[in-house]
Amino acid sequence: MPGLSHLYFRSAIVFLIVGISVGIHMSVSGNHNVIGAHAHINLLGWVTSALFGGYYALNPAKATGRLPMVQYFIYTIGVVIMGVSLYLLLQGNLGMEPIVAASSLITFAGVLLFAWVVFMPAGAGVHATPRAAE
Ligand code: HEM
Ligand code: HEM
Repeated sequence: MPGLSHLYFRSAIVFLIVGISVGIHMSVSGNHNVIGAHAHINLLGWVTSALFGGYYALNPAKATGRLPMVQYFIYTIGVVIMGVSLYLLLQGNLGMEPIVAASSLITFAGVLLFAWVVFMPAGAGVHATPRAAE
């Protein structure tokens, strides 16, 4: 499995641990205010990251070059900031709204880069590592 898939699964499982912790805290406290943060940490963080990692594992050639790594960092940083800021927003910190908005766009940029990876031939990214001569 490419290193990038390992990376995706490592961050995915951390998102799942955090997402479930928020879910259990909601259940125990009876306060479901942060349902949106719980849902998106689990769905963008655990489910989508694992899908990305699974895609790269099934298509290792697509994990080559710099673009897939850039895609990983943009997407993951977007989800981390979105998860934290959405949680704080739903706790009543209204000042978080612009950060939620900006991080949603960063996450979306990560998704668009993934679309690029999927549609373009393997290693077609800008600054892709040159292929070894065959
Ligand atoms: C032990 C693990 C989990 C616990 C204790 C838990 C707990 C909860 C609670 C208390 C709610 C609020 C329900 C409501 O107010 O109607 C909720 C909603 C939700 N959870 Fe979880 N959850 C867990 C795992 C997960 C996972 C793994 C996912 C996704 C992969 C997930 C996705 C969702 C979604 C999408 C909602 C919103 C549903 C809606 O809009 O009605 N949850 N969860
Ligand atoms: C940057 C990406 C995303 C943004 C900005 C976004 C935004 C939103 C918004 C504004 C809501 C309504 C929340 C409310 O009424 O309180 C929502 C709900 C929901 N979204 Fe997303 N979403 C994103 C990605 C996703 C993805 C990828 C999934 C599934 C894989 C998903 C699943 C859900 C679900 C299940 C709900 C209902 C649960 C809830 O009330 O929080 N979203 N989303």
